[in-house]
Amino acid sequence: MRLDRFLSNLPRFSRKHVRLALLAGRVRVDGETIKDPLHDVREFSQITLDDETLQAGKPAHYFMLHKPPGCVSATTDPQHPTVLDLLDEPAKHELHIAGRLDFNTSGLMLITNDGQWSRRLTQPATKLPKVYYVETEQEIGEHYLEKFAEGFYFAFENLTTLPAQLTLIGSHQARLSIVEGRYHQVKRMFGFFDNKVLRLHRESMGPLLLDPALELGQYRALTPAEIQLF
Ligand code: URA
Repeated sequence: MRLDRFLSNLPRFSRKHVRLALLAGRVRVDGETIKDPLHDVREFSQITLDDETLQAGKPAHYFMLHKPPGCVSATTDPQHPTVLDLLDEPAKHELHIAGRLDFNTSGLMLITNDGQWSRRLTQPATKLPKVYYVETEQEIGEHYLEKFAEGFYFAFENLTTLPAQLTLIGSHQARLSIVEGRYHQVKRMFGFFDNKVLRLHRESMGPLLLDPALELGQYRALTPAEIQLF
């Protein structure tokens, strides 16, 4: 939200009052004097007028988790452990998942309390490539490559999937890069060939790779440089 809007939403500030306070350098955001009325402020920003706190702000959190198979990509589940159960964080009820994975899929999962950041990553227009390692029941033929590049018609959604890049790495193993995140997308793509996916593991999301130091079920905070990638 724009700083001037934030300030003029407060009951005791008129637009004129806001303009003058900004010009006089009385408003600080995260400790820095801000005069620009268009400056972007969030729920994470600490905002003060002179010595008075107008918004305390709160820390933004960004984690990468090595999701193990056998847990649900949800914040609560009546039956199964969830990915949030793996996190030992005080404010974890405020966190959400940026890009779900199926129950038995493993790999890179991003978890945050920053909705703007996660929306940038997951909104379809971003077309963020997600790379999966796949193992299948049947052999993966050379003829698959063209079909993955061409797209699969998904009747339920009435759409054709965007071009995906399949690289064979063994008779039953492949690496797949897709820019969408449709329901069970990878399994349905291989399902076209009646080939069951036995193992699915997400290796990367855009430029962010799963940290090889993370064992199954472990997580760590993203570095400032990693947060800036999106
Ligand atoms: N495609 C799937 O089928 N499952 C996942 O977990 C991710 C992509």
